[in-house]
Amino acid sequence: MHSETRPLTAVILAAGKGTRMRSSLPKVLHPVAGRPMISWVLDAARAAGCQRLVVVVGHGADQLRAAVAADDVVCVLQEEQNGTGHALAQAAPEIDGESRLLVLSGDVPLVSAATLQRLAASPGWGSLAVADLDEPGRLGRVIPDASGGLARIVEAADANPEELAVKTVNAGLYALPAPEIFDYLDRLDTDNAQGELYLTDAVTAAAQGGEQVELVTLDDPAEAWGVNNRRQLAQVHRRMVERTVESLMDSGVTFLDPATATVEPGVKVGQDTVIHGGVTLLGQTTVGSGCELHQGAWMRDAEVADGVEIKPYSVLDGARVGADSRVGPFARLRPGADLGRGVGVGNFVEVKKSRLEDGVKAGHLAYLGDAQIGPEANIGAGVVTCNYDGEKKSVTHIGRGAFVGSDTMLVAPVSVGDGATTAAGSVITQDVPAGALGVGRQRQRNVEGWAERRHKTNSKKNGPKKNEES
Ligand code: UD1
Ligand code: MG
Repeated sequence: MHSETRPLTAVILAAGKGTRMRSSLPKVLHPVAGRPMISWVLDAARAAGCQRLVVVVGHGADQLRAAVAADDVVCVLQEEQNGTGHALAQAAPEIDGESRLLVLSGDVPLVSAATLQRLAASPGWGSLAVADLDEPGRLGRVIPDASGGLARIVEAADANPEELAVKTVNAGLYALPAPEIFDYLDRLDTDNAQGELYLTDAVTAAAQGGEQVELVTLDDPAEAWGVNNRRQLAQVHRRMVERTVESLMDSGVTFLDPATATVEPGVKVGQDTVIHGGVTLLGQTTVGSGCELHQGAWMRDAEVADGVEIKPYSVLDGARVGADSRVGPFARLRPGADLGRGVGVGNFVEVKKSRLEDGVKAGHLAYLGDAQIGPEANIGAGVVTCNYDGEKKSVTHIGRGAFVGSDTMLVAPVSVGDGATTAAGSVITQDVPAGALGVGRQRQRNVEGWAERRHKTNSKKNGPKKNEES
């Protein structure tokens, strides 16, 4: 078999208009599980061993070029989108000599590297991926020959009722020999329902000309799901999330309600962590082992150590949380929030670009921004680091074991020393030395008998009240 000695090159068809998306964004750039759908296809091709990736761009070409730019990617332009056969033909100048082409569709993002390897390794002239779907929809139908190879592919728009009843679909993923396939593309015509040059016709022509085209059945039929509209986009996104959740469950993570979890493929979670319903884990988030993530926790690029409890409806965005800490409910940890071990951050506490050393407690209603907080310090309810003076941000230092009283305003730059205390309701504009009490408020004054005097004054002014007459 000559195919094995040929270099493997991927050609990704991505120039189409995607009219049924009804979108100003090129179809293949719509995100699936947090990334443009075409980037999953590129990754699978790389993982399958393709060292060169040729992307056929057309509709939204500039945006697409920018999105796929990488050392191993070349883009070729299909000026008019005359069909998938015409699209592949545009790649010819980029293919030197003999090669094995993995021809992929930018709108079929669930494809795995293992599938591409199977396609590439399949004996015979060429191969295509097929799946049996309960709802084959508008995908091309694959009709096998007597020996189980390809007889022909029929587009849904061109199919008769008998062909439409076939449940075996063309996934739009092929391994084809170059330069041979280009001869078949040269001979295509537009004599079909969509008036396009179909790649499927070229593959059919090769099979009918006596070339062996193998059918490779997908292990997961969802790999054949193409995205031509937003309903299919939602299905493909959900399936990619489901796969991630399934593999985490296989690795020892409990999901109490997997159908309501959103977990992107880049996320890592340790063993024996329990994840409740409605939890969202995005980007490169890592969660340690033995954690509990309650209802509605939302994390993006967060780093959570072992044994942490994230209580309901907390948001962690680019934040780090040390082992055995407690966060939430309703806490917000923004980029640069860096919590040590055994830290407690409670409801309606916002932390940004601040280090909270081991054992710090901030239980309620605080804003901690640009702060350095020493171990075991206690931050009272309603404390605010006033980090912004309208022009620049300044840092607040809070020492080891300091006690910052409720409703203290810390006007930065300012520091509260080790073991120091601030009185509740203080506005602290000067440094508080270690061990000192900082009081920054007016002393309280009590006016004796005030209520009675007010009552008398009001009665004289307004006369007796109505209900006092009756
Ligand atoms: C195509 C297949 C169909 C298969 C399905 C799998 C053809 C004729 N039909 O149909 O058998 O079941 O994919 O999802 O091949 N593209 C271009 N230039 C064009 C047209 C399309 O680059 O002129 C690109 C699109 O951007 C897309 C891919 O090719 O990424 C497939 O095109 P699309 O129009 O989605 O074809 P389908 O109707 O889905
Ligand atoms: Mg499609």
